[in-house]
Amino acid sequence: MTCPGLGRQTVADDRFRPHQPKVCASVTKRLFIKTYGCQMNVYDSERMADILAPLGYAETTSPDDADMVILNTCHIREKAAEKVFSELGRLRKLKDRRRTDGGDMVIGVAGCVAQAEGEEIARRAPYVDIVFGPQSYQHLPEMVTRAARAGGQTVLETDFDVEDKFDRLPEVATKNGPAAFLTIQEGCDKFCAFCVVPYTRGAEFSRPASDILAEARRLVAAGSCEITLLGQNVNAWHGAAPDGGAEWALGRLIRELAEIDGIARIRYTTSHPLEMTADLIAAHAEVPALMPYLHLPVQSGSDRILGAMNRRHDRETYFRIVDKLRDARPDIALSSDFIVGFPGETDRDFADTLNLVTRVTYAQAYSFKYSPRPGTPAAVETVQVEEAVKDERLQSLQALINAQQAAFNADMVGRTLPVLLERAGRHAGQLVGRSPYMQSVHLDAPESLRNQIVEVTIDQGRANSLSGRLTTEHGPVAKQDTGTNVAHVA
Ligand code: SAH
Ligand code: SF4
Ligand code: F3S
Repeated sequence: MTCPGLGRQTVADDRFRPHQPKVCASVTKRLFIKTYGCQMNVYDSERMADILAPLGYAETTSPDDADMVILNTCHIREKAAEKVFSELGRLRKLKDRRRTDGGDMVIGVAGCVAQAEGEEIARRAPYVDIVFGPQSYQHLPEMVTRAARAGGQTVLETDFDVEDKFDRLPEVATKNGPAAFLTIQEGCDKFCAFCVVPYTRGAEFSRPASDILAEARRLVAAGSCEITLLGQNVNAWHGAAPDGGAEWALGRLIRELAEIDGIARIRYTTSHPLEMTADLIAAHAEVPALMPYLHLPVQSGSDRILGAMNRRHDRETYFRIVDKLRDARPDIALSSDFIVGFPGETDRDFADTLNLVTRVTYAQAYSFKYSPRPGTPAAVETVQVEEAVKDERLQSLQALINAQQAAFNADMVGRTLPVLLERAGRHAGQLVGRSPYMQSVHLDAPESLRNQIVEVTIDQGRANSLSGRLTTEHGPVAKQDTGTNVAHVA
C-alpha cells in the first residue's frame, strides 16, 4: 500500500515528545507550537495550525523568530504542569527582546494547564496574551484579535463547548505523515480518583460517525494510510449513525473505516477496560486492518487499590478481557499504564501489581509515580506513600516491564513483518517505521520507499526497537497483505 505525500512525522507511541513543527516557505507570520502530553494534544496542535493558517500564520521550527508561540500543555502530573511556568519564563525574555527590536510576539497557553490554572497563569505571567482550554481553541482567531485590543490584558477562554468546537473547526488541512491522528471522542465521565482529565477536558462527547468518516477520507487524500482514532476514553465512543439509524459503537466505526479505500491500518487509543465490548473484541478477529496492538491501562493489580482509584473493575475482570482479546487475536500485543504509590498502597498491593504484569505479559507499558493533583479526591487522602518508596516500586516495576519488552522484541528476530516506513533514520540511507505491534523498526531502504508498507525481515530485537532488512527487492506489499494476519508473523 502506498501512502503518498507528507510533511509531518508522527510519533504515535511517544506521548511526551514535543510536537515537531513543519516549515513552510511562503511565510507571512511565523507560528511555533510546543506540545506536551497526550496524542489528543498533538491532534489539537495540528488543528490550531489549521485555524491560524488563514490568518497568515505558518509553522516554524523555533520560538526564536516566531510571531506567535503557543504552549499546548498537560496537567496530568505535577512535573508536566511545572514545565509550563519555566518555559514561560524563557518566552518572556524572547518577547522582551522582540519588543526592544520594534517587533512583538503573541504568547498563548493552551491545553489542560490552561484549563485548570488559567487565572493563575494570567496572574503569574501577565505577559501571556491568550489562555485557552482544550475545548475553546476554535475561537483562536477572535482571541488573537481581542488580545491585540486588550492593552496587555490576558484574554482568557476556558469554556467547555466541545460540540461547537468540532462544528467550527476548519477541515483538516495540515499535511500529515503516513500515520495520522483523528480525535473521535473527547472528555471523560469515569472520574478515577487520581485523574484531572474529567476536569480539564470535560464530559464525554462523541463526534458523529459521518464527520469521522469524512475526516478519515480527507486524511487518506492527504497521504495517510494509517489512522489512530483518539479519545481519552476512545472505546466509550458511540456516535450518531450517518443514516440517522441506531447509534454506532466503536466496533462498527472501525469496520466502516476499514472499508475506505486507502486505509491500510487502524489503531485506537486510549481504552478503558470496562468499555471493551464483545463487538469491539470481535473486530480484532475480523478486521485485518485493525492492528494487533492495544493500549489497555489497568493502573494497579490490587483490587483494594483499584477500588480506591474508582476504576470500577477488578483484576479478574481485566484478566478476562485480556483472555478474550487473545482468543480473538492470538498475536495481539498489549500495553498498559501503571501508577505506583497511590495513597494507601502497601507492599502487598504493589506485589499484586507485579503479579498482574507477570500474568498478562506486556509488549510495553508506561509507569508513573502517583502525583497528587489539585481538585482530585486522592490528593486529599491522608495516607500518602513516601517518595522513596514510590521510587523503589517504580524501579522494580520498570525492570519487570523492560524485561518483558526486551523478550517481546527478541522474539521478533527471524520473522517477517509489514512495516510502515514513516521517517528518515539517524544515518543516510536509513528509514524508520512501525511494525503492526507498534515497535520502531530501523532498516536501510531507499527514500522512494518512505510512506509505504514494506516487508522487513527482523535481524535484531533491542530494548526499545527492532532492526532488519527489506525482505524483497520490490518493496511495498499489497493492501490485503498489510493487515498482518497471523500468517505474516508466524
Ligand atoms: N484515559 C486514559 C489515560 C489518561 S492519562 C485511561 O483511562 O487510562 C494517562 C495516564 O497517566 C493514566 O493512565 C495514568 O496511568 C497516568 N496518570 C493519570 N493521573 C495521574 C496522577 N495523578 N499521577 C500519576 N500518574 C497519573
Ligand atoms: Fe482519567 Fe480515569 Fe478518565 Fe482515564 S478513565 S481519563 S484515568 S478519569
Ligand atoms: Fe495531559 Fe490533558 Fe492529555 S492532562 S494527558 S494533555 S488530556
